[in-house]
Amino acid sequence: MDSIGAVGLQQREGFPSCSQKGLPCPSDSSELVLECLQQFKVTQTQLQQIQTSLLGSMEQALGGQASSASAVRMLPTYVGSTPHGTEQGDFLVLELGATGASLRVLWVTLMGTEGHRMEPRSQEFVIPPEVMLGPGQQLFDFAAHCLSEFLDAFPVSTQDLQLGFSFSFPCHQTGLDRSTLISWTKGFRCSGVEGHDVVQLLRDAIKRQGAYSIDVVAVVNDTVGTMMGCEPGVGPCEVGLVVDTGTNACYMEEARHVAVLDEDRGRVCVSVEWGSFGDDEALGPVLTTFDHALDQESLNPGAQRFEKMIGGLYLGELVRLVLAHLAQQGALFGGCTSPALLSRGSILLEHVTEMEDPLAGAARVHAILQDLGLSVGTSDAELVRYVCTAVFTRAARLCGAALAAVLSRLQHSREQQMLQIAVATGGRVFEQHPSFLSILQETVMLLVPECDVSFIPSVDGGGRGVAMVTAVAARLAAHRRLLEETLAPFRLNREQLAAVQAQMQEAMAKGLRGEASSLRMLPTYVRATPDGSERGDFLALDLGGTNFRVLLVRVTAGGVQITSQVYSIPECVAQGSGQQLFDHIVDCIVDFQQKQGLSGQSLPLGFTFSFPCRQLGLDQGILLNWTKGFNASDCEGQDVVCLLREAIGRKQAVKLNVVAIVNDTVGTMMSCGYEDPRCEVGLIVGTGTNACYMEELRNVASVAGDSGHMCINMEWGAFGDDGSLGLLRTCFDANVDQASINPGKQSFEKMISGMYLGEIVRHILLHLTSLGVLFRGQQTQRLQTRDIFKTKFLSEIESDSLALRQVRAILEDLGLPLTSDDALMVLEVCQAVSQRAAQLCGAGVAAVVEKIRENRGLEELTVSVGVDGTLYKLHPHFSGLVAATVRELAPRCAVTFLQSEDGSGKGAALVTAVACRLAQMDHV
Ligand code: BG6
Ligand code: GLC
Ligand code: GLC
Repeated sequence: MDSIGAVGLQQREGFPSCSQKGLPCPSDSSELVLECLQQFKVTQTQLQQIQTSLLGSMEQALGGQASSASAVRMLPTYVGSTPHGTEQGDFLVLELGATGASLRVLWVTLMGTEGHRMEPRSQEFVIPPEVMLGPGQQLFDFAAHCLSEFLDAFPVSTQDLQLGFSFSFPCHQTGLDRSTLISWTKGFRCSGVEGHDVVQLLRDAIKRQGAYSIDVVAVVNDTVGTMMGCEPGVGPCEVGLVVDTGTNACYMEEARHVAVLDEDRGRVCVSVEWGSFGDDEALGPVLTTFDHALDQESLNPGAQRFEKMIGGLYLGELVRLVLAHLAQQGALFGGCTSPALLSRGSILLEHVTEMEDPLAGAARVHAILQDLGLSVGTSDAELVRYVCTAVFTRAARLCGAALAAVLSRLQHSREQQMLQIAVATGGRVFEQHPSFLSILQETVMLLVPECDVSFIPSVDGGGRGVAMVTAVAARLAAHRRLLEETLAPFRLNREQLAAVQAQMQEAMAKGLRGEASSLRMLPTYVRATPDGSERGDFLALDLGGTNFRVLLVRVTAGGVQITSQVYSIPECVAQGSGQQLFDHIVDCIVDFQQKQGLSGQSLPLGFTFSFPCRQLGLDQGILLNWTKGFNASDCEGQDVVCLLREAIGRKQAVKLNVVAIVNDTVGTMMSCGYEDPRCEVGLIVGTGTNACYMEELRNVASVAGDSGHMCINMEWGAFGDDGSLGLLRTCFDANVDQASINPGKQSFEKMISGMYLGEIVRHILLHLTSLGVLFRGQQTQRLQTRDIFKTKFLSEIESDSLALRQVRAILEDLGLPLTSDDALMVLEVCQAVSQRAAQLCGAGVAAVVEKIRENRGLEELTVSVGVDGTLYKLHPHFSGLVAATVRELAPRCAVTFLQSEDGSGKGAALVTAVACRLAQMDHV
């Protein structure tokens, strides 16, 4: 069949005669009608062109390149899978926009078992024309009113009303319950709605109405409802096709092909919005003068050209325009028109389907035409039927070509030669006009013969599908609430942070006075930052961070040059015997000296030892306790410098001159202080966390002297070990603490530093999995594994430049397979945990700088903080959050953060250099 004008137009015998003079005789009339209807003929070639052109437009839009208004939109919905049949519950459904000027409310019960169905209750409401064209608020108020009326009439037992909103206009969806109207179509034009979230507008209206408390859980297009509501047959329905007032289709596209989505896996339902297809190039050859006239008189001239040839809102109008034209030509109704025939909208879809129905008798056609005030001659009924058939047939064939484009797209994206697929159909045109489907099917077979398509009529006019989506959305919303509840304790407000700052300041003062305090406030015997006159070659060790390093530091008039090497400290050594640990350290030094040609030289050595030590001088440090995963035996209570010297002694070949032992915070402050004399605070946020700062000597009870300053190593990691952080600690913090090698110790550090944040995240993920919120509730062995989340992952996951799909890749590398919803939630967990860490750290810094300002009785303090540590340096938001918190809590201090570039070994060498300079002066 190459062409189709109007089915049955070939049978032209038996026309009645015309009684009126001057008018064409019957055979002339039928000639005129047939000639006119030729315009509605669409050839196979034209159909193929439309299919190809639509496919091109779809692919462009998927690739994110669609620019012209006449292109299809390809709007991703938030529906990612077809129903499993296990969804259950009671749902309210509100349908707006599918069926002309009416609105439908349904009460749908999903049974949770496939094949079991309960008839929904439903009620239809006619939307007054002034509401369709008035202010948006009026339309949504009307909808809310209809909901109340429905619920008044059908009282339901549950208080917990969850609503799915079927809103059948082109919308940008940004969530299952967020959808912005792009533009009205199909005779609606309410002001103040385009560009707004229609879910919010409905929620506001329901609130204004106030009668029922209804939660709008999901919003869907009618095509999606149609697809989702289909009883899965042999396979799932993966295309939804609607021909009602308007026309459109949706289908399951591979997510990786949808450029606007950040997804590389799975499928997503895309609403094609093919109604807007059709610039002059694509549709030009098939557009008739009637199409142009209809477009011009419509509410949206130039838009939705394709829909205006297919949608039920327009079919009646096309027929009317043709009949009026033919009457004016004298080919119908004795050459007379009627006011009704000349008025827009007088012929409706129902009229056309009835008149065209071969089973309906001529009497019915007569009746309809007479109602329009027309004088109907005996041949008119038959000719009018031809007109209806021509208009309908063209619509069905065009719609078939469009569906063929979608099927070709599916074939291509699934790389399947033979596609077997089920298409759910919905809308009054299918329901009222059985031959529409058969013509459409014929066209599809002609255009995509290799597709095996079954057509399945939708259930409950798509209401069931909307309820399905609503059920999924309700589950996701419940998950979100659980996520929020879980993360709430991590979200600290200003008051809580200010309280931490105040407690910290109090603990500092007590520690300095030698009173019981979780802050030890250890004197370091570093009294001044470098003055630039230091010179010489020094060795430095840097132990206690991620890396153990040995360094050669050359301090010259031209600056500082550093050569260094990283050595590993295996866990068995860090947690073995003290002797083993210090022998290993000396072995590394020997190796370094050999490589640098320094063997036999006894260079002064500065030792960055990043653990709490009670110092009695610059070169004496008694290890109070190990932190951060170190636990070598027989070291606590010992002078670390002695332990090192003993190990040197055991290796008789080496000579070393240990001059100073410094904490990493001190090394960092000194290193940054070499560049900036205002640097009087050192901060580490890495494996562990800690700070040091220049305190007034008169405030340090344990060191004699009243003038000058001394750097104090706060050991703030232990802050809160006396229980003072109790209210802020979550059960996850408690879990992490319990599983650590030092339970009850380093409370503040365990909420902030890199060694623990990953573990906190892991415990939260375990909890959310047990609630069924994550990983479909399935606990994996991987997630039970301690320390699988490294700080590095936290930093990577939160990096803005990483797309969500990469977040998932990271988690999958860890053996955690997840969905995109999971990936987003994991990201939120990481954000909450690291944000709390940064804010607590900021509250600590605020306490320190305020203390310095108060010490000096200054109104305003300008100070710099030298910072090091992988978490601080690598995390994308950590440093910004610390600075923001400090600004908030210590507004009278202007604080500059300087990142240490050379590590704290340089600082240790500088401390050593200062000590050597002073020692030389003593000798002189
Ligand atoms: C390094 C310093 O750069 O940072 C070390 O040189 C310090 O002394 C370390 O301990 C802290 O960060 P991390 O992340 O390695 O623990
Ligand atoms: C219009 C709408 C579309 C809807 C279709 C069928 O084309 O823009 O969203 O699916 O009509 O109702
Ligand atoms: C731990 C140590 C401390 C060190 C900090 C940062 O808290 O106890 O001395 O400064 O980690 O590395």
